Amino acid sequence: MTSPARVPVATLPGGRMPAVGFGTWQLHGDRARSAVREALAVGYRHIDTATMYGNEEEIGQALADSGVARADVFLTTKIRPSDLGRERAVLRRSLAALGTDYLDLWLVHWPPRHRADSHQLWTELLAAKAEGHARDVGVSNYSLAEIDELTSSTGQAPAVNQIDWGPSRYDAGALAGHAERGIAVEGYSGLKNTNLGDPVLATIAAAHGVTTAQVVLRWHLEHHVTVIPKSARPDRIAANFELFGFQLTAEQVASIDGLAAGRGRRRR
Ligand SMILES: NC(=O)c1ccc[n+]([C@@H]2O[C@H](COP(=O)([O-])OP(=O)(O)OC[C@H]3O[C@@H](n4cnc5c(N)ncnc54)[C@H](OP(=O)(O)O)[C@@H]3O)[C@@H](O)[C@H]2O)c1
Repeated sequence: MTSPARVPVATLPGGRMPAVGFGTWQLHGDRARSAVREALAVGYRHIDTATMYGNEEEIGQALADSGVARADVFLTTKIRPSDLGRERAVLRRSLAALGTDYLDLWLVHWPPRHRADSHQLWTELLAAKAEGHARDVGVSNYSLAEIDELTSSTGQAPAVNQIDWGPSRYDAGALAGHAERGIAVEGYSGLKNTNLGDPVLATIAAAHGVTTAQVVLRWHLEHHVTVIPKSARPDRIAANFELFGFQLTAEQVASIDGLAAGRGRRRR
């Protein structure tokens, strides 16, 4: 079993984000409770949720049941742009459901359509951080141009951008752009949007005696991208966290990067 201490961290302005977290989208009710309990039991110390997922309460219950101290878990939730104007009430509900008095990371789930709304929402998140309700604040699904707008209008850059990421989405320019701005990249749907039967991945997996899913997750870490795989199955929850008994060579990383070639480049 992997010790949580082996997981690298991304250093954020307000704290340290474990580079492997547990995704919870589409986990509800008992399935959410037991998956999160399982994740905490095998060593995950970073849980990703959102108001939209409708499972904050179950996650709070799983955390309370787990016996793991709140201070040892990095907890992220997200606010929808449609909650503009009621940010405080949404934050209070998220904190109460999760059974905590602070978030490690509060994200704008996706960019509001209008620039003024984006600015207002971001200002509210910054206020929540200033008041100690969130250690760090960030965004999700923002382009670098949208991030630059927020930063120039408030003087404060998001700590994190959580984006759709994986071998088919690889974009060196996007990674460099986030790094230049000091923004940590967190990738989502890296397993779901990958052909886990791809021969390039299969060859690398065989060389290390691991699964192609583990290769994909490890590839994120080699690029310093935080990864948050979701699974409802205990065997996969455990395997997705077993990423520290092998490393990819530079050539293997480059061949996985190459899987994006010809599929269109994105900067989200
Ligand atoms: N910010 C955003 O807009 C946004 C959008 C999407 C997701 N997210 C976050 O990112 C997390 C991860 O993304 P995701 O849930 O879309 O996709 P994902 O974690 O890449 O993939 C989940 C899917 O892969 C399967 N899976 C998990 N482990 C596997 C393995 N070892 N081998 C084969 N299949 C495996 C799961 O099925 P089983 O459950 O049956 O194992 C599930 O169908 C979400 O849960 C959520 O927290 C954020």
